[in-house]
Amino acid sequence: MRCLITAALSAFLMVAAASSGSADPAAGAAVFESNGCGGCHYTEGPAREKTIDDQLAKKGPELWYAGSKFQEDWLTAWLVNPEPIRLLKFGSLTDDNPGDHPKLADADATSVTAFLMSLTSADVEADAVDPKNNPKGRLIFTKKMPCSGCHQYAGRKDVIAGGRSGPSLVDAGTRLNPDWILAYLQKPEVFKPVKMMPIFVGLLSDKDMMNIARHVASFKPKK
Ligand code: HEC
Ligand code: HEC
Repeated sequence: MRCLITAALSAFLMVAAASSGSADPAAGAAVFESNGCGGCHYTEGPAREKTIDDQLAKKGPELWYAGSKFQEDWLTAWLVNPEPIRLLKFGSLTDDNPGDHPKLADADATSVTAFLMSLTSADVEADAVDPKNNPKGRLIFTKKMPCSGCHQYAGRKDVIAGGRSGPSLVDAGTRLNPDWILAYLQKPEVFKPVKMMPIFVGLLSDKDMMNIARHVASFKPKK
């Protein structure tokens, strides 16, 4: 009997190990370092403890809260095939994104994902935002606030609309954690002390921030 239980347990553990792949955060951290990723990205936060010079010293976005910001499946796929997210070069308002981000092989992408997903921020409340395309959020995004002036999104008949100065929000619902979108709007001081995106705290109520976070999190490819 005991033997059966042990066998069942070890079979279960094998399945669990197989489904999480080679997902070991420490191994991923080593791959991250050996590929020079840390030369362009901070993996330690919070941002508010960094000076503006610290911020500008890196050529890429901060990753110390990557596990709270991204969806895991998106992250692994992107590390293998990094299509531009920002239309313009990071930190520039004039140059195009050269689209030359380093690529990782599948196995390395899986382990780096495990590492990055282990970097989370206590300032993101879990399960706060239920993605939903809602008229209120859409109205704020496209009309009442200038969001669409800086961010691309799939508009009517899925034609890409919107501005180019911010990261594209097309399919943001498969890339970003909905809870992070809300936290980002509510607590800009935590996530982005050097910012080209205006602060909406005081302009939008918490309720409207929730509406808009739900709306942006509903941006998904049409099936
Ligand atoms: C030469 C500088 C540079 C190096 C080296 C580099 N990155 Fe990046 N990384 C960038 C830039 C610039 C962006 C923004 C790209 C975009 O918006 O399309 C970026 C974006 C990212 C993003 C998305 C972040 C976000 O907030 O949108 C992740 C994740 C990432 N890099 C991981 C890595 C990993 C893992 C490595 C090592 C294999 C790496 N990067 C190496 C410059 C770099
Ligand atoms: C003046 C241009 C501008 C406006 C207006 C603007 N943004 Fe942004 N937004 C940016 C930029 C630039 C970033 C990249 C971070 C940074 O540099 O501050 C960003 C980042 C973001 C992100 C994170 C995207 C990512 O992948 O990191 C979200 C979500 C977002 N904005 C939503 C909104 C919403 C919702 C509104 C309207 C309430 C809005 N933005 C208005 C320029 C803008």
